[in-house]
Amino acid sequence: MSQFGSYEERIKNFSWSMAEQELEYRPGDVINIGWYCSDRICQQGKADKPALLWEGMGGKEKTYTYNDIRLASNTIGKFLRDLGIKPEDRVCLFMDKIPELYLGFLGVLKIGAIAQPLFSAFGGESLFVRLEDAQTRAIITQRKHVSKVRKVLEQMPFLEHIIIVDYDEKKELREREVAFSLEKATPVEQFEIHPTTAESPSVLHYTSGTTGKPKGVQHVHYSLISQYLSAQWALDLRDDDIYWCTADPGWVTGTSYGIIAPFSLGITQCVQDIGFSANNWYQFIEKKRVTVWYSAPTAIRSLMKAGEEIVKKFDLSSLRHLTSVGEPLNSEAVIWSQAVLGLPFHDTYWQTETGSIMITNFPGMKVKPGSMGRAFPGLTATILDMKTYEPINEPSKVGLIGFKPDWPAMMRTYWNNKEAYESKFINGWYISGDRSSIDREGYFWFAGRDDDIINTAGHLVSPFEVESALLEHEAVAESAVVAKPDDVNMEVVKAFVTLKPGFEANADMELNIMNFIRKTLSPLAMPQEIEYMPSLPKTRSGKIMRRMLRAREWGEDIGDTSTLDND
Ligand code: WT7
Repeated sequence: MSQFGSYEERIKNFSWSMAEQELEYRPGDVINIGWYCSDRICQQGKADKPALLWEGMGGKEKTYTYNDIRLASNTIGKFLRDLGIKPEDRVCLFMDKIPELYLGFLGVLKIGAIAQPLFSAFGGESLFVRLEDAQTRAIITQRKHVSKVRKVLEQMPFLEHIIIVDYDEKKELREREVAFSLEKATPVEQFEIHPTTAESPSVLHYTSGTTGKPKGVQHVHYSLISQYLSAQWALDLRDDDIYWCTADPGWVTGTSYGIIAPFSLGITQCVQDIGFSANNWYQFIEKKRVTVWYSAPTAIRSLMKAGEEIVKKFDLSSLRHLTSVGEPLNSEAVIWSQAVLGLPFHDTYWQTETGSIMITNFPGMKVKPGSMGRAFPGLTATILDMKTYEPINEPSKVGLIGFKPDWPAMMRTYWNNKEAYESKFINGWYISGDRSSIDREGYFWFAGRDDDIINTAGHLVSPFEVESALLEHEAVAESAVVAKPDDVNMEVVKAFVTLKPGFEANADMELNIMNFIRKTLSPLAMPQEIEYMPSLPKTRSGKIMRRMLRAREWGEDIGDTSTLDND
């Protein structure tokens, strides 16, 4: 029996105060995620319980108990405070999935500063636009990533401190750089946590928009209430679980459900900082005796590709509950996991903006393969007409997913961009930007995004950002970037370009442009294919017709081209 029990029972008399009571929080109290995730668990008598089982390259392993993470986050918190970091200052975490990323995140929150995690594979330009927007005061990083910070340092006068967690004493520190070693620092036993309250800002995650710069999604400490409860009800996390969330904390899954939820529940979680391979992953599950697994469709499709034979080499009997997020989970993947792993993957749907799971196939309930499941209790979720934005209330009709924003983890604004934030609301509904239908039993069936954003392997990439970066390349005159279908990653980035006179459209140039994007933006944003065009299709007003190029890639009807003018 799952903790969730029956859907009907749960929605009857639902109140978020259930979670508040379990967390012994009363409205108006101090609420600090850093404290809830470490000190409180120790106070509950679980100081010696393993919190984090970490495994890195070359078989390196580390284990941190709840007391260890309490001390480490105190120590990092104190270090930052001594540097002069104040509440609400933005502190960027720019690291691989090393322990300091998890412990640093809690340390930043303990001093009331805002944690701004960024994916460590980001290149200089991706990093720069996000730090500049947030006017970030400090960045915590590793030696291997410091060169990317140095490259754009001159443009970032606001960035006062570059904290390197694995500093090599043989190398000289440069301007604004400072070394911090968790191993060498004196553990801070007593630490005064900043008394944040419900609406104090906590985490700032950057997400790609269709137009314009990436937007900083701002969350608050009260988000804990949603994350704590949904981890019990949707992920079925229990006290004796060994939990594995494969997401990187550079993205919201990796913070909401890869740090906050499991630690606030006092659960043991494991982290692997090694690249993906079916062998590595199955071995990790066997070795750590993983019980609950939160992963993503692209990874599941890769495992499917690796075949069934390899599964038989491992003992995966510890697994109890499987969950997925980030992109459509096709029914084949659910059927495959049921047949091969003996358990179905349960889809969960949400966004950086929503902060916690919105729609899911709940544990213990019938899983409909291909459906995302039902709305989380307490939510008003509906399908809105695409023109009038009124609820459709008709089974199986596709419209926009809309939510009434009254759950604790909902974003409070886009950083410094109230206008973009307000544009997300129509008729009192938060417009998700995704299309779906609902069936007679209240299950949501995803139908696609309502914009041009590319979802590659569960990561959103803005065509606008890639197009702008392409124009920085010396050979590119014009560009249009769209999603191209892909067996494993669902979508990959494809660029159409026209070259400036004097540059040759050949395979070397294609590689050169690809590498340029990989370095300036990230490997995710790198086009997997570049198609040279003599000119790009445009509307009469001169706008590049991205939609038409996209439709061609997907073999779809190109639609109305009457405004097309391509002379
Ligand atoms: C977008 C949000 C929040 C987790 C990580 C992604 C797509 C997310 C599903 C799903 C189909 C999904 C949507 C959504 N998406 N989950 N279960 N089925 N699509 O967060 O980067 O903010 O992306 O990912 O398009 O809007 P994100």
